[in-house]
Amino acid sequence: MKKGIIIIIFLGAFVLVSFQVTEKIGLHLLQSPGAEVENYVEPDYGLGTGHIDSLKPFPLLKKGERSPFDLWIYGGKNGSSFMNPTLPMSWDQWVTFHKNQKPGLMEDVDNYMNSRFNFNGEAHSGRYMSGGRKEIMKGPIGRLPRGISSFEELSELTPEEIKRRDLFPYKPLAHPLASTAHMVFPDNWNKVHPEHIRIDIDHDYPDEYLPEFPPPMFLTNHKELGDVTKGKEVTLSNYYEIFDGLLTPEQMEGLKELVRPTPTTWFNHTTHRVTLEPSAGVSCFSCHVNGHTNGAFELAPDSRPHLARLRVGTPSMRGNYNLMQFASKRSIRSMDHFAEIEEYFDGDPGMMQHIGPRAHQKQVANRMGDFNAMLDFPPAPKLNPLGKLISSKASAIELEGEKLFWGKAKCSTCHYGPAFVDDQMYDLQVERFYKGRPEGPIKNFPLRGIKDSPPYLHDDRLPTLDDAVEFFNMVLELKLSTDEKEALTAYLMCL
Ligand code: HEC
Ligand code: HEC
Repeated sequence: MKKGIIIIIFLGAFVLVSFQVTEKIGLHLLQSPGAEVENYVEPDYGLGTGHIDSLKPFPLLKKGERSPFDLWIYGGKNGSSFMNPTLPMSWDQWVTFHKNQKPGLMEDVDNYMNSRFNFNGEAHSGRYMSGGRKEIMKGPIGRLPRGISSFEELSELTPEEIKRRDLFPYKPLAHPLASTAHMVFPDNWNKVHPEHIRIDIDHDYPDEYLPEFPPPMFLTNHKELGDVTKGKEVTLSNYYEIFDGLLTPEQMEGLKELVRPTPTTWFNHTTHRVTLEPSAGVSCFSCHVNGHTNGAFELAPDSRPHLARLRVGTPSMRGNYNLMQFASKRSIRSMDHFAEIEEYFDGDPGMMQHIGPRAHQKQVANRMGDFNAMLDFPPAPKLNPLGKLISSKASAIELEGEKLFWGKAKCSTCHYGPAFVDDQMYDLQVERFYKGRPEGPIKNFPLRGIKDSPPYLHDDRLPTLDDAVEFFNMVLELKLSTDEKEALTAYLMCL
């Protein structure tokens, strides 16, 4: 009896104590609350006090609604990460909406581009891209701000002063319709492939400032053949004829997958699309034509809200065998992996489910990687096996450029080796020069064959190599003279 009472008292005390304990540490919830700093005050992390308050919240836009061109002035979080697979209106209304909006939008896009760049059509005379058919355009054509008469005058100013007076000519470039975003093909591509003409938006660059089309294709295993395509665009219809007898069956299979169209977020058979007719989709080579690039752009799938996604121009696939890092921000570690996850569905697996997945088995993605690894850089006949200019073949100005590149201009700190890239991501802190949202670390790109892939930088904001040199002259605060900058451009055209 006594024993029983003791046990009951003991059990009662246990229940009471454990109830209090659970109450205290919150185990009545499924999960305990996390730790929280008391009286939290945000440090400015060197960005300047009130930095986030100086940025506007991203506007909440419906699909298809016009988006601001100056997206760098916005920041933070707004809206949902998830896309809705239906249109905000009926298909007929969608078509009419864009029919009405597109002419005005494109007029504004042209005016905006002309306000940023002086597309004067001037070329580096006698200098051609690798296929020998298209001249390399001359710059710098980034427009100087009012009151500044030369790039030399501008680069004498400190980053703080350039920022304070709003003088920076190379601010980020936005996707001109960032609410819908997705792939925008150049006019020269659309002429041959009218199925990719969008009802809502066209490309914003003049053709002269884009890569040659179709570009030549060089293979690591058949250097003797030069351009293996002999001036043709490689398609699903002709790839077999061109490559049978040159590639292994595995590489052939990989190439087939690279030229086979599959549906994407906005190019597909549903009404969630931007083409008048239902679309078979796009192939990898619709942008990376012949394993290079035609200058198509899209938004990187790696961020939300949508308006925070950076515009990205299509990088070349040439020389990918030497790269260890893919995509401007995602640092994907192999081409096979990239082929598995690339941005057909804008980083939204929900959309993939709605439209129908590309369903690439790992084995197939590996084969795409196998073929990709055969794509070589274009010939650089002035470079020796160490990647240095052969002095008997190079001009005085090119040799001067090389000296600067490896010395005073500091380019070789990050661009060296056979691909002229170190495979790292860098935060160039370009926001030192303008009031806006910092873009953070971006992947470094190879400079081998660079003359063939304008426009430059992840978002196409630099139309010519001369603009790229001006950009780095400012960003690295080099204070190079006009002659030195010309020499650097002359050197870059040899790589
Ligand atoms: C808009 C047309 C477009 C299509 C179609 C396309 N890409 Fe890309 N590709 C891009 C853009 C833009 C990037 C840059 C992405 C980024 O920076 O996040 C890219 C990046 C890449 C990269 C990384 C290159 C680098 O230097 O970082 C690889 C590899 C690649 N694409 C392979 C593919 C494959 C494989 C396919 C087909 C399954 C494909 N792409 C389809 C435009 C396209
Ligand atoms: C601190 C490292 C670093 C140094 C030094 C550097 N770069 Fe770069 N370079 C980068 C990064 C990172 C990118 C890509 C940036 C982006 O897309 O936002 C880049 C991109 C480029 C591009 C465009 C590539 C493309 O495919 O669009 C060119 C051209 C270029 N650099 C030339 C130069 C020259 C010329 C110099 C010397 C004056 C130089 N760089 C010095 C890191 C560097």
